[in-house]
Formats: sequence, C-alpha cells, structure tokens
Amino acid sequence: ATVMGHRTKGSDKWGQAEDIVKVFGEECKTPIEKLKKVAEAMVVEMNAGLSSEGGSKLKMLISFVDNLPSGDEKGLFYALDLGGTNFRALRIQLGGKEKGVVKVEAEEVSIPPHLMTGSSHELFDFIATCLAKFVSSEPEEFRPLPGRKRELGFTFSFPVRQTSIASGTLIKWSKGFSIEDVVGEDIVGELTKSLEKIGLDMRVAALINDTVGTVAKARFSNQDVIAGVILGTGTNAAYIEHVNAIPKWQGLPPKSGKMVINMEWGNFYCSYLPLTEYDHALDVASLNPGEQIFEKIISGMYLGDIVRRVLLKLAEEAEFFGDTVPPKLRIPFILRTPDMSAMHHDTSSDLKVVEKKLRDILEIDNTSLKMRKIVVELCDIVSVRGARLAAAAIFGILRKLGRDTVKAGEKQKSVIALDGGLFEHYTIFRTCMENTLKELMGKEAAETIGIEHSNDGSGIGAALLAASQSQYVGVEES
Ligand code: GLC
Repeated sequence: ATVMGHRTKGSDKWGQAEDIVKVFGEECKTPIEKLKKVAEAMVVEMNAGLSSEGGSKLKMLISFVDNLPSGDEKGLFYALDLGGTNFRALRIQLGGKEKGVVKVEAEEVSIPPHLMTGSSHELFDFIATCLAKFVSSEPEEFRPLPGRKRELGFTFSFPVRQTSIASGTLIKWSKGFSIEDVVGEDIVGELTKSLEKIGLDMRVAALINDTVGTVAKARFSNQDVIAGVILGTGTNAAYIEHVNAIPKWQGLPPKSGKMVINMEWGNFYCSYLPLTEYDHALDVASLNPGEQIFEKIISGMYLGDIVRRVLLKLAEEAEFFGDTVPPKLRIPFILRTPDMSAMHHDTSSDLKVVEKKLRDILEIDNTSLKMRKIVVELCDIVSVRGARLAAAAIFGILRKLGRDTVKAGEKQKSVIALDGGLFEHYTIFRTCMENTLKELMGKEAAETIGIEHSNDGSGIGAALLAASQSQYVGVEES
C-alpha cells in the first residue's frame, strides 16, 4: 500500500484501481465457446452479404478478380498503395515463370495528416505528384515503347464498390480518413484527373483492396492460399469464393468459376463481441461512429488508444498516477500501438521500457514497479482480446468454406496469407492469434492449416494484378 504514497487513502485507491482492471479484464474475456459463436455469426453474415447488396453489415464486396496471377507475367509495372499510415509507390519488374519477381523498388512517404481529412483533389494531387517523382527515376531501358502507356495497380484500402477490375466508387472512409467529397465517386477517375493535370501518362489497370493484393501475391507462389488477411492500421480479409455461392453476382460466370471477395470484416458486428465502456467511448469519439466496430477492437490504429482510455479512468477514479491526472493522458491516440507493443514485450525485471514510455510519451514520472505491471497487464488484456477475435474471424472463413474439419482420407491444405504491421511487429499478438486458431481448429484439423506472411502483398499484389490485366499481354515485344 505504500506504493501510492499515503497509506490509508492510498490502499483504498489501490484497491479501486485493481477493481477497475479486474472488471475490464472480465469484460474482455474471450473463452473458446464465445469465439466459436463469433465465428458462427461471421458465417451467417458472410452468407447474407453474398446474397444481396446491403444484406449484411459484412459487405462481401466483389473484387472482379476472377483470375489470379499465373506467374507468367512479364514486364515493368507500377503500383500505388494507399490506406495505412504511409503511402507508397512501387516499381516492379516481372520476369515470367522462370525469373518471377526480378526487382522491386519502392518509395514511402507518410501522408500529411491534413490531407486525410481535407479535400479530394488535394489528396489525389499529392499522390500523383509523389508518383511522378518516383517515375522520373525510371531507368532509360524501361521507358515504355512509343504508343504504349505505363500500367499501374492501385491498392486503395477502403470499402469500394467495384464496377470493373479497374474502376469503383468509394462507399465510405475508415481508419482516420474522412474526405466527404470523394464518397460515391470513382476512385480511378479521381486519380486519373490528377495524373492528367501533371501530365503523367499512365493507365490504371487494376483497382484493388490490400487484402486482395495479399491473396494475389501469396497465391503467385503458393496455390494452397485461400485467403488474405490484413492486421495493420485496420483489419480485413479477402478470400476465394465459388461464383455459384455468390447469389448477388449478376455478371457472366468467370471461366475460373471463382471470385475473390473483399469481406470488409472490420465492419462485422454481432452480440457476442466483448465490448466495454472504453470501446463505446472510443467509437463515439471516432470519425466514423457506429462503424467498423470489429476493427476498433482489433487493429493497430486503436489498440493503444483503448489502453490509454483505461489508464485515464484509473487516473481519474483511483488516483493511479497521484492526485492529479497527467494531462497528456487526455490526448486521443497519443499512445500508439507500437509503443504499447514495446511495453508489452518489456522483459527487464524492473520494466524499464514501460517506465521510459510512460515518461517520454505521457510525461508520467516516478512510476512504481507495481504500477508498471498493471500497465503491462492492460496491454495484455487488450491485445489478447484482439488477437483471439482475429483468429475467430479466420476460423469463420475456414468454416464457411468447409475447411474447418478434416474429411476422411483428405488432407487438403488451406493457407492463410497475412500482412500488416500488427501481424509483423507485435509478436505476442501474432503468437496468440496463431495459437487461438489452432485451438479453434482442434489438433487434427490444425495440421491442415498454414499461416504465411505475404510480405508486402498490398504493394506487390497490385503490380501482379496490373500485369495480369495488362493490355499488352500477348503483344509481341518489338
Ligand atoms: C479497413 C478498410 C479495408 C482495409 C483494411 C486494412 O478496414 O476499410 O478496406 O482492407 O482497413 O487495411
């Protein structure tokens, strides 16, 4: 009790703090039965979303990708990747079956925050200008032949209603972006306008979601890949569906009989989700209240802020950091998920990293070891809930495809490709997600599942899809 300073008052306060943490921990619990119900609800919503447009909160968007790259693709292609904290331009050289991906060059810029909530022409002009700068470093020997255009795959990681493989309208923004005048507009049209303005001659050959790029990139080298999942700033998945399981598809059946579906699972909701007062408060204060509820308890944009909100409550109601509330603790998103992850992975006996992060980011000095341990516990509660729910969602896809059990005599492999900063860098999150998936599958069926890191699927996948949609395929090199 001496931890809090004054013995009597302090010990009360400490007990109060412990209660707050305990209640929060209870509310975030995700026992396996609950996860199975979540997965079951996911399957129901998947079917509803595939049946009719607007049939579910799960949009189950048709990507128009009905043929994944074969590996024969050749030539130089560009890609743009917009949708996380950074924006990237890529140039990829493909060498066909023998050589595969020969070379990848990329340039990354962080998006000035004011562009994320400004006007559409500002954002697209910025993108076009960055792209033009990148193109200007193109080696002489790769200049397009006279009469030909450079071809581009555009990864735009927001919910888009596609009208073809290379066009689609924005349904709504997510993840901190909010530019009203683009909603309902054709994204490729917007980009093309900006490209024309600065005189950059390029054709957008494919407009895709990052999850679709992740499937494409992974499938390029592994035919067992059935789905791509992003665990990054946001979270979402795409998977390969039989076209006859998509009643809302009105086009001709594709030759392959398959279609990649962008689920937009960030917007999934069901009554089993373990939501707390902190999640509600975060949602209400967000740019998109009432939307992307699943994403808001799983993905990298939000996890750190949930921890901050619980710490704020501890400070306000249990004088956790002394008799005043540290002012920085009131600033939304000041505690980022990478910092949360660093604290969570602190293995030093006196939790030095936690101490330093609390001091540097929140300007909280003189924390005791006991306090730091509680901070780590909060990181654990929040990340474990997110990781286990992500596993339940993957399990939902496998169930939908009938791949959650082993059929007699059959050992069909199902590989899930994953990408995103949360998956890549938050080791405890990733490990927990993988273990939970195994737990859900059961020992025997778990052996048929593979988890693979589709490194930079969103960028490379876009270039691969641009290549497979190229106008010049089959046209002789002259
Ligand atoms: C958000 C977007 C979705 C994207 C995901 C991961 O959920 O709505 O389109 O795939 O973030 O970047």
